[in-house]
Amino acid sequence: NWTMKSFVKEAVDEIKEAAGDDKVILGLSGGVDSSVAAVLIHKAIGKNLYPIFVDNGLLRKGEADRLKEVFTQNLNMKVRYAKASRKFLSGLKGVTDPEKKRKIIGKVFMDVFEEEAKKIKGAKFLAQGTLYPDIIESVSAFGGPSAVIKSHHNVGGLPKKMKLKLIEPLKYLFKDEVRLLGEELGLPGDMVWRQPFPGPGLAIRVIGEVTAKRLSILREVDALIIEEIRKNDYYRKLWQSFGVLLPIKSVGVMGDQRTYENIIAIRAVTSTDAMTADWARLPHDMLAVMSNRIINEINGVNRVVYDISSKPPSTIEWE
Ligand code: XMP
Repeated sequence: NWTMKSFVKEAVDEIKEAAGDDKVILGLSGGVDSSVAAVLIHKAIGKNLYPIFVDNGLLRKGEADRLKEVFTQNLNMKVRYAKASRKFLSGLKGVTDPEKKRKIIGKVFMDVFEEEAKKIKGAKFLAQGTLYPDIIESVSAFGGPSAVIKSHHNVGGLPKKMKLKLIEPLKYLFKDEVRLLGEELGLPGDMVWRQPFPGPGLAIRVIGEVTAKRLSILREVDALIIEEIRKNDYYRKLWQSFGVLLPIKSVGVMGDQRTYENIIAIRAVTSTDAMTADWARLPHDMLAVMSNRIINEINGVNRVVYDISSKPPSTIEWE
């Protein structure tokens, strides 16, 4: 793709010029934007890029390992890996309010990130995978749940005490352009075409209190849902598809035993920008397989429901 090639060349030159021989820190999240930004900047300044990955324990199954594999092995970058799941979980203990969850996650993230960043002596720059819509949104959409965290994670979230200057090589691009850029830069397809995943991760899909046990149920369910969605070739047709663990239990029957277990809601939507979204008309047979597999294979779930609400007035996430 000629346009992307020339974009890469220009961006690489600009990054080189801006960063000179100085160190650049970048927060890798596993999402498309920070991944593409990392590869692009690495192409420009090589080992002067210091990617930091904060493992909050709230990611999807296998995602942290996949990130390590791609960046460390395939792309030969030295990623600093801060394993902090326990800090996040203890911060979230007893918390059920969605906005409080977001605030705590944002705060713990900043603390852990800053601690790692401080170890990189003499760093002058912080790179972020901010996109054009992030800039627009942080200006126009204050108050909404995603605006709050987006302003934290994507725009202006730099550790102020460190006085780092920002490098945002994707700030004039839209999501689809970033995906093309990622492909051009040789990022694997499963990373480039990943469905959007919220910064607070599975924590806002475990409705009610987030415990290690409930997280692990949802993580298994989520992996199973994605597996079926991919198997049926729906992954790229959907904006997002995931499970939500509800805070109520329901009665069921297994053999001749009464059960009293958790409920999973499956959420799958089509959208182009997340501002509006329609619930996906998934084939009933596919939903049937998902429901059977979830209930049979995952301990602690005895009922599955499908969310048939569109945005607006509902939101994509439940929290
Ligand atoms: P809603 O639920 O508001 O979500 O319809 C719109 C889009 O934003 C994502 N989302 C978030 N992303 N931090 C994020 O980084 C958040 O706190 C957050 N809340 C929602 C959501 O997944 C959807 O793509």
